[in-house]
Amino acid sequence: MRLSEKVIVVTGGAGLIGQLFCQDLLSNGARVVIAEKNTASAQNFVDTIDPEDRARCSIVELDITQTESVVSAIEKIDSLYGRIDGLVNNAYPRNSRYGRQFFDVEYDAFCENISMNIGGYFLCSQKFADYFINQGYGNIVNIASIYGVVAPRFEIYEGLNMSMPIEYSAIKSALVHMSKYMAKLFAGKNIRVNCLSPGGIYDQHDPKFCEAYKKHCLSKGMLDASDLSGSLLFLLSDESKYVNGQNIVVDDGFTL
Ligand SMILES: NC(=O)c1ccc[n+]([C@@H]2O[C@H](COP(=O)([O-])OP(=O)(O)OC[C@H]3O[C@@H](n4cnc5c(N)ncnc54)[C@H](O)[C@@H]3O)[C@@H](O)[C@H]2O)c1
Repeated sequence: MRLSEKVIVVTGGAGLIGQLFCQDLLSNGARVVIAEKNTASAQNFVDTIDPEDRARCSIVELDITQTESVVSAIEKIDSLYGRIDGLVNNAYPRNSRYGRQFFDVEYDAFCENISMNIGGYFLCSQKFADYFINQGYGNIVNIASIYGVVAPRFEIYEGLNMSMPIEYSAIKSALVHMSKYMAKLFAGKNIRVNCLSPGGIYDQHDPKFCEAYKKHCLSKGMLDASDLSGSLLFLLSDESKYVNGQNIVVDDGFTL
């Protein structure tokens, strides 16, 4: 019960990693707000949660790319709980042209993906930080990635219908640095900003990819979303009170 009574907002909380985060936060006593664009998917997820935990969980509609949506979500959460202890910036917006090979990426699609993703993270961080300043405390955890830290290992995608988009590197590296910027900007305001950078999370990937990926790791290879929980709980708890502006990489040594 490391997060007993803390109110934690998880953007994109109905996604692959978001669901695991929400469940772990609930299991550790938090009150969890699933802040989602896809509320139907959030509802489907909530229906699977144990009733005791479900009572501490709510869904708030949020589009991280729309100012009015972010502002009204914060108002709604405040009216529900009267406080917000932590924000997990985890949503993953992308357009239909996201994921193309480098030479096939069109300029406007590149700009739109960057804008939706890093722009959305900026927007949420800005509006929640404003709330946190008035409240007197707050905690932001940005979900970045190994590819915000190192260049892609292109060789592991060879021969497979997969790519590591240029947008992803731009977004995640910017997020790591933006987190440091905000941590320092909020000096003296009792607001922490850190990153959690996961390695590849297994989701029915091609076994050939998993094998190639694992060659760069030290034991397990592709991780499960649950392997991130300890680090997330740590960053959201008071145990990490003086950890600020940092990036915790959870990748089984992939980036070494
Ligand atoms: N899956 C991985 O291997 C992996 C590895 C490293 C980092 N990450 C990061 O973890 C985070 C979550 O990834 P995931 O794999 O769970 O993604 P996902 O696509 O499974 O889930 C993303 C969620 O974000 C929601 N969303 C999309 N646009 C939104 C918007 N505009 N406003 C609010 N919500 C929106 C979607 O509805 C979805 O529920 C992402 O930031 C991703 O970059 C993932």
